[in-house]
Amino acid sequence: MKIKVKSLKETEKIAQIFAKSLDKNGLFITLTGDIGAGKTQFVRYVLNELNVKEKITSPSFVILNEYKSKLCPIYHFDLYRLEEKGLKSIISELREYSKVGMLTFIEWADYANDEIPKNSLKINIEYDKNNLDIRILNFKTTDLESKKFLKRFEKEVKNECACSMFCIE
Ligand SMILES: Nc1ncnc2c1ncn2[C@@H]1O[C@H](COP(=O)(O)OP(=O)(O)OP(=O)(O)O)[C@@H](O)[C@H]1O
Ligand SMILES: [Mg+2]
Repeated sequence: MKIKVKSLKETEKIAQIFAKSLDKNGLFITLTGDIGAGKTQFVRYVLNELNVKEKITSPSFVILNEYKSKLCPIYHFDLYRLEEKGLKSIISELREYSKVGMLTFIEWADYANDEIPKNSLKINIEYDKNNLDIRILNFKTTDLESKKFLKRFEKEVKNECACSMFCIE
């Protein structure tokens, strides 16, 4: 599903619906897309909705941030600054973070290429080249469990779209 958001406020709204569609089983999520497109911002809004009280920063310098939430433990990775050696050791650990009962976000997942566990929900965020407030959020999965999540999320987004804020392509 592709969603075009026209402002930061709309990104927040979509992230809130996303958070509300999650359950205690958690989810394994990869985030890709343009530099500065809004990957960290999306994670921040989802975590806010899950009552995470700590300040949510980009894990670029620490690679991994961990949070407690009302649903399950949350892990937020950023692979952007990892050198090849570091990347190898992290990749072997990623599988540990793709288990049921964890909510894991991996920014710059493209750096780990095919090594990312297959059960991921993929979020790609891009700019609209003509208007930098507009972002295209693309949600995809081939995994059965995350398909169930995506269905719930899609239904909720469509409910909200009745009063038409977002444009779904
Ligand atoms: N509609 C929008 N959705 C998300 N962010 C937006 C939007 N419009 C403007 N922005 C701004 O774009 C920036 C996105 O920054 P953010 O750090 O989330 O990007 P990122 O994809 O994580 O970057 P990086 O590639 O460095 O990890 C923020 O400063 C945010 O305020
Ligand atoms: Mg980021």
